[in-house]
Amino acid sequence: MKIKATVQNIGDNAADLLIVGHFQDQKDNALISALGSDLSAQLSQRLANADFSGKNGESLTLYNDKGQHIMVVGLGKNDKLTQTALYDISHKATGAAAKTRCKTAASYLLNDTFESIDADQAVKLVVLGASHGEYRYEDTKNFKEDNKHSLDTLEVFADENLHTYIDQAKAMAEGVTAARHLGNNPPNIANPKYIAKFAEKIAAKYDNVELEVLNHKQMKKMGMGALIAVGQGSHNKPKMVVLKYSGADKKQAPVALVGKGITFDTGGISLKPGANMDEMKYDMCGAASVIGTFVAIAEMQLDINLLTIVPAVENMPDGKAYRPGDVITSYSGKTIEVLNTDAEGRMILCDALTYAQEFKPEVILDLATLTGACVVALGHQASAVMTKTDGLAQEVIQAGLQVHDRAWELPLWDEYQKQIDTSFADMQNIGGFPAGTITAGCFLSRFTEGQNWAHIDIAGTAWNNKKDGATGRPVAMLTQFLINKAG
Ligand code: BES
Ligand code: MN
Ligand code: ZN
Repeated sequence: MKIKATVQNIGDNAADLLIVGHFQDQKDNALISALGSDLSAQLSQRLANADFSGKNGESLTLYNDKGQHIMVVGLGKNDKLTQTALYDISHKATGAAAKTRCKTAASYLLNDTFESIDADQAVKLVVLGASHGEYRYEDTKNFKEDNKHSLDTLEVFADENLHTYIDQAKAMAEGVTAARHLGNNPPNIANPKYIAKFAEKIAAKYDNVELEVLNHKQMKKMGMGALIAVGQGSHNKPKMVVLKYSGADKKQAPVALVGKGITFDTGGISLKPGANMDEMKYDMCGAASVIGTFVAIAEMQLDINLLTIVPAVENMPDGKAYRPGDVITSYSGKTIEVLNTDAEGRMILCDALTYAQEFKPEVILDLATLTGACVVALGHQASAVMTKTDGLAQEVIQAGLQVHDRAWELPLWDEYQKQIDTSFADMQNIGGFPAGTITAGCFLSRFTEGQNWAHIDIAGTAWNNKKDGATGRPVAMLTQFLINKAG
């Protein structure tokens, strides 16, 4: 779906479907009036009959004599409208539109001013919500022709001075869609090679993007022992996929985003239980989110240098697989005692984080569906941020608030470090039951000393459930973080 900003009066808009907001207890609706007395009479009638009252969650479709669908959606009371509600309203509207035969739609939700949401934020919520609602996974499913996905374009009405935010949100939405595509594709398709191919297409599309892919042999030779260990049980050989975007002066240090790309996590020899193991196809959503963010930034041509580094590896049990008890030498030279082969994310990330430092980045963020414990702690609402750099967690959290893609900080205090000490190596790869998300962060912190680095665990936010699939989070948060950085 193409998204376009517009300032056209609703009465002149020829889209098949017009989306109009209506507050609870609102009597006249200026947008509906602009569409003719006929329609305002219809709306008054419906309001009088109490068929529709403008409560959040309600919606009503009217038709004019030009055959346009006019979808009037309830916004509830203005002072009670939350960010989540506005996002969901826009989401549901395009979701419903995609079930009609309409090809073009125009959203006039931003014609209203919201008492408790800033205008720039409202723009992002409406655009991101609309794009999310319209998305449908179709890659490996046959749809009947008459049930084909429908909206080709969405126009978003907003004041001219808000159009830069529409452009930003539109790029974010493209990144989110790319991340959802990568996340939702099955593990027999979206394997390390597929991720590298996907990155190739991105690199081919933009003049200022370069791609570097390290193969198994190269990484083995370089001494990336931890990553190699995780990948050695799989026939799908690992790859390190590095996308480089140059949007600023060469001398400016890049921001590095590192994303966990476990294309399927069986747990390895420490095999996971069977129930819901299929969901471990989403274990590359860290990778998907950094690639999605890369797409958003390249689309915007943001004035920044960006590096995304994706270790893409499959974790399988096999005669060649690494085992509990093994001691592995990582790329950094530090040794790791493997106590659980299912704690594989940190193993591939430690080598990728060491590699990232060779590019002398100004800041490094890593994104990973790293621990089940994170879902226990924060559920599906917030990603977890951990850092030792002052102010960095706040920068991430603030960016998330701007686009309603929220995160929350967990401490990385030194007192937790002893949980991963061992007599047999420099560290062990698990920290026991207490604070599982934090001890995973502690593990990574040992490979990022002296860096401006934050770890973001997205185990609870990267996908919803089997029906809705990958959320594309936290592409919006990361993109906003970079927009704020570029200033
Ligand atoms: N990919 C999983 C984490 C995960 C599990 C994310 C469920 C979302 C839902 C990760 O590789 C893993 O298996 N972590 C283990 C770590 C443990 C062995 C210390 C976990 O969380 O159980
Ligand atoms: Mn695992
Ligand atoms: Zn995993």
